Amino acid sequence: MKIFLDTANVEDISLYNDFIDGVTTNPTLLSQYAHSEHTFLIKRICELVTGHVSVEVISSDFDEMIREGRELAALDSKVCVKLPCTLDGMKVCKRLSIDGIATNLTLCFSPTQALMAAKCGATYVSPFIGRLDDAGHDGLALIEDISEIYNVNEYETIILAASIRSVTHVVRAAMDGVGAVTISPKILKQCLEHPLTDKGLEIFANDWEKGK
Ligand code: G3P
Repeated sequence: MKIFLDTANVEDISLYNDFIDGVTTNPTLLSQYAHSEHTFLIKRICELVTGHVSVEVISSDFDEMIREGRELAALDSKVCVKLPCTLDGMKVCKRLSIDGIATNLTLCFSPTQALMAAKCGATYVSPFIGRLDDAGHDGLALIEDISEIYNVNEYETIILAASIRSVTHVVRAAMDGVGAVTISPKILKQCLEHPLTDKGLEIFANDWEKGK
C-alpha cells in the first residue's frame, strides 16, 4: 500500500520522507503553506519526493480545468492532476489520461462516482472517509464497496483513501486492500509511535544505569 503525506509543509515532508511514496495537496493545504507563488512550492515538493504529488485544479469549468491541468502537469513529471468527481472533472480526467497525464479524482463520496472514475481512466480515486463519517455515513464501508467493484471488474484505478482521521482508518484501509492512503503528518506520527515502546525504552535506560 502506498502512503502519501497529505500536506504542503516542506519540513514535514522532509521529516517523514523515508515512509512516504508521494504527497497529496489540496487548495486548502497549498494556501496554508505557499508564501508567494504556488508553483514554487509545488516544484520544491516534487524535488523532495520520489513519487506522485497530487495538485488540484481550482476551476470547475471544463475548458479551464483542462488548461490548468496541463499547466500543472508541465511543472514536473511527478505532478498528478487532482480533479473533482463531477461531470466536467471526469471528462477532463479522460482527456488528460489519454495524454498520459496522471490523475486523481478527488471528493469521491459514492461507489458510482468511483466506478465512473475508473471508466474515465483515473490513476487514483480519492474517497473521503472522514468527511463521510462526519456526515453520519460509514466512510470505511465506501472503500470496501469500491474495492469490491474494482476487483470484480478488474479496474486499474488505485483507491487512495483520503480524509483519514485516525490510525484505525489506516489499519482498516490497509486490511481492505486499498492501493494507497493519504495521511496528515499528525496521523503518520501516530502510526510510528506506541506508549509501550517509550515506556520500554525508559525501563531499559533505567536498568542500564542501575547496573553500572
Ligand atoms: O486532501 C484530501 C483529504 O485528505 C482532506 O481531508 O481532513 O480535510 O477531510 P480532510
